Amino acid sequence: MDKNSKIVIIGAGIFGLSTAAQLASEGHRNILVLDRHVPPVPDGSSSDISRVIRFDYADDDYLRIAHEAYLKWQQSAKYKGIFYSAPYILTGNTSEHGQSWIKKTTAALTQRNLPWQKIDDAAEAKKKYPVLSGALAGGSNFFGYDNQQAGWADASKAVSQLRDDCIELGVSFISGRAGTVVALDTDPNKKITAVRTLAGTSVEGDHFILTAGAWSAGLVPMYHSTLATAQAVGYVRLSESEMQKYADLPIYANFSTGWFNFPPHEESKMLKMAVHGWGYTRTPNREEQRAMGKHADSSPPMIPPRERRNFAPVEAEQRLRQGLCEILPELGDRPFDRVALCWYTDTPTGDFIMDFHPDYANLFIGGAGSGHAFKFLPVLGEYMSLALKKTLPSQLAQKWRFRKDYATQEDAFVGDGSRGGPIRRELHTQERAKL
Ligand SMILES: Cc1cc2nc3c(=O)[nH]c(=O)nc-3n(C[C@H](O)[C@H](O)[C@H](O)COP(=O)(O)OP(=O)(O)OC[C@H]3O[C@@H](n4cnc5c(N)ncnc54)[C@H](O)[C@@H]3O)c2cc1C
Ligand SMILES: *[C@@H]1O[C@H](CO)[C@@H](O)[C@H](O)[C@H]1NC(C)=O
Ligand SMILES: *[C@@H]1O[C@H](CO)[C@@H](O)[C@H](O)[C@H]1NC(C)=O
Repeated sequence: MDKNSKIVIIGAGIFGLSTAAQLASEGHRNILVLDRHVPPVPDGSSSDISRVIRFDYADDDYLRIAHEAYLKWQQSAKYKGIFYSAPYILTGNTSEHGQSWIKKTTAALTQRNLPWQKIDDAAEAKKKYPVLSGALAGGSNFFGYDNQQAGWADASKAVSQLRDDCIELGVSFISGRAGTVVALDTDPNKKITAVRTLAGTSVEGDHFILTAGAWSAGLVPMYHSTLATAQAVGYVRLSESEMQKYADLPIYANFSTGWFNFPPHEESKMLKMAVHGWGYTRTPNREEQRAMGKHADSSPPMIPPRERRNFAPVEAEQRLRQGLCEILPELGDRPFDRVALCWYTDTPTGDFIMDFHPDYANLFIGGAGSGHAFKFLPVLGEYMSLALKKTLPSQLAQKWRFRKDYATQEDAFVGDGSRGGPIRRELHTQERAKL
């Protein structure tokens, strides 16, 4: 790519912003980022008070890259006040399903000489972390370990910093209706010449990079290789004394339900929890289909961008509460300050996509975070840039390739082995109205 050619990036989440910053630092002089809203985008998947940072992966590629990213989060002065260290406890139940993912993950850590500590039962977990007052799995029905090298990041702060890096590097932004892409104009050679926006304007470019997260499938055919799924998050407000009491709360993840928590967030005084599960789908409504084409099987609401609504399906809220009761029963009947749904862009294997779109001559796709991409923020742009130049190591190019082979598969979304809980379902009409 010519350093003066115009690169248009659609979507200012971590995929789009990290790519913009990387390309600008490599000397590209004409980069424009479009988004529905100024980043951090309130309903974008990269925005919230927290995201877990860990390198516990069963897959050695993700483990290695996540470790590389973790060292940056932990050591770089840049992430001071954004990244916080915290131990990470991974548990499943003693069933086959509960054990297999954890066994594979610990084997992968051992292979790389990275330390982890087995926890034999709930009593041992409680002894090591006295703040965990709950029954946990109870008795000996406990299978898990902890990793002291983990933590969490203030996601919206990290995104704000990345946005500012982009601005300092000379990247331009258009947000709002004039930054909201509704269609792609192509020439007879399948080259995109411009994108059209909700404001009726047209934005020309030489290269286009689509990093629109859960909304991407609304703009181009994804051949059923991605599925946008909504996942539940809950926030409990803590008092000053509770903030102190729970200051050393570890991250506790129960992989048989997908429930996990974050340590308290100092500025907001929130104790946050979420369910990493199969989630909910939302078929785009008629208006959205008319505006965006009929590509997406599921999509978050398109307009207007706004704070996530205080809503989660009833059973999702129950699951959030049940997990809380298992580790901190004294907070079990505390009302949620708010609950919300946050969007994953899942792939059948849990792998990201960083590849050129097969239907266009100059469109690159980056994303499909599958609920676990945030932690890669410090290194994501480098991998996106390698993929753009087609110089990724071959096994990564293979892993992150654009796949058309799911197009004919009825339901390929079986996940990477890390999801728990009830199967995915479509949101009801009454639920959709509350989003
Ligand atoms: C509840 C939840 C918990 C998570 N927890 C973790 C975690 O603990 N650890 C971890 O590593 N990862 C986690 N993740 C995953 C991680 O946050 C995501 O993988 C990542 O943020 C996705 O980034 P993105 O850039 O692809 O998407 P986004 O941040 O959503 O960015 C896409 C952007 O595109 C814009 N856009 C959409 N359509 C258009 C359009 N037509 N025109 C212009 N702009 C458009 C949107 O406004 C949006 O800003 C979690 C995700 C969720 C939802
Ligand atoms: C493990 O968890 C699953 C899902 O929650 C449950 O169906 C199963 O009974 C549990 N098994 C054990 C041994 O606890
Ligand atoms: C995980 O959650 C399930 C269902 O709530 C529970 O039965 C099990 O004891 C939990 N396991 C651990 C290790 O906390």
